[in-house]
Amino acid sequence: MSFSSKSLRLVLLFTITITIFKPSTSLNLNFISFTETFSLLFGYQNILLSNDDKSVQISMNQWARDGSGFVSRSAYHHGLFTASIKLPNNNYSAGVVATFYARNNAFNRDDEIDFEFLGHIPGEEWVLQTNIYGNGSVHRGREEKFTLPFDPSKDFHNYSILLNTGRVVFYVDGLPIREVRKVEAMGDDFPSKPLFLYGTIWDGSDWATHNGRYKTDFSHGPFVAGYAGFVINGCPVIDPTQPTQPDCQVSLPDGISAVERSKMQVFRRKYMTYSYCYDTGRYPNPLPECEAEAPDMQPAEPPVVLSPVEPPVSGASRRFRYI
Ligand SMILES: *[C@@H]1O[C@H](CO)[C@@H](O)[C@H](O)[C@H]1NC(C)=O
Ligand SMILES: *[C@@H]1O[C@H](CO)[C@@H](O)[C@H](O)[C@H]1NC(C)=O
Ligand SMILES: *[C@@H]1O[C@H](CO)[C@@H](O)[C@H](O)[C@H]1NC(C)=O
Repeated sequence: MSFSSKSLRLVLLFTITITIFKPSTSLNLNFISFTETFSLLFGYQNILLSNDDKSVQISMNQWARDGSGFVSRSAYHHGLFTASIKLPNNNYSAGVVATFYARNNAFNRDDEIDFEFLGHIPGEEWVLQTNIYGNGSVHRGREEKFTLPFDPSKDFHNYSILLNTGRVVFYVDGLPIREVRKVEAMGDDFPSKPLFLYGTIWDGSDWATHNGRYKTDFSHGPFVAGYAGFVINGCPVIDPTQPTQPDCQVSLPDGISAVERSKMQVFRRKYMTYSYCYDTGRYPNPLPECEAEAPDMQPAEPPVVLSPVEPPVSGASRRFRYI
């Protein structure tokens, strides 16, 4: 990469990151250029970029069963990251996993914040799974699963990850659906490294749908996921040798307003189908952030667990291959 195009990229990122963002506004900002921000990760032949360089389709089919994906050129110390996503609309998409996530697995110790969309058999719906890991805590999954109030394969919807000091928030169309506050006892299980952003589609046959009971059937393919726009309001790592964050003007929501919080609770009561905080078979002692220190992240009543015999399995460490 030449110096000039690198500088251009940094200028672009700075242009974006100085935008002031207030918690009460919607998550709208101008969509950014795909190629300035991302590079292709795998399955190049299955990635289709739009002419205006603002959207991309990634797919998986019987000739390219590994799927495809992209990754951001920069890692971000913190930020609010949005992708507008339309999931494959095949009648049968069991086994298919489409993702938007933030990750850094340096030293083989994963830090991750995940949106994972899990495909379905006919008559069922896409399931949204969220999860976080810190410093390689991949054996302490913090999965929560949701159905959605809309069909995510019919239209584009906005999925956002807020990473701020001591706080991760997941948003769907601007509505917070999950907040993870760093409590002391979580220790390094809370992500701490700067994170790269990823979008991938891949074959999760062995776990994604009803715990692997329904596999990917490529005769129903191709499976195409659209990522129509990206909004990155974050602090990129400018100098990787600097462990602390650079002087970055980005302004992020500092918390969830009372109104947003009550909407979040309504959403969670209605659409959450699984939370690790209530899975006493898996965690006889709930993980520390599930306790009273962060009462707001729990719904008022235990959620309806639709598939109690099937604890969610995560695809951590298997969600892509470098080629
Ligand atoms: C997603 O965000 C864009 C711009 O930020 C907005 O125009 C659009 O209406 C949003 N979509 C939904 C479904 O909320
Ligand atoms: C999906 O199923 C519906 C109803 O069974 C059918 O009408 C439609 O053609 C199917 N679509 C595809 C892409 O197979
Ligand atoms: C992460 O885990 C490693 C290995 O257990 C440990 O040495 C390190 O101190 C931990 N914390 C961070 C922030 O890397």
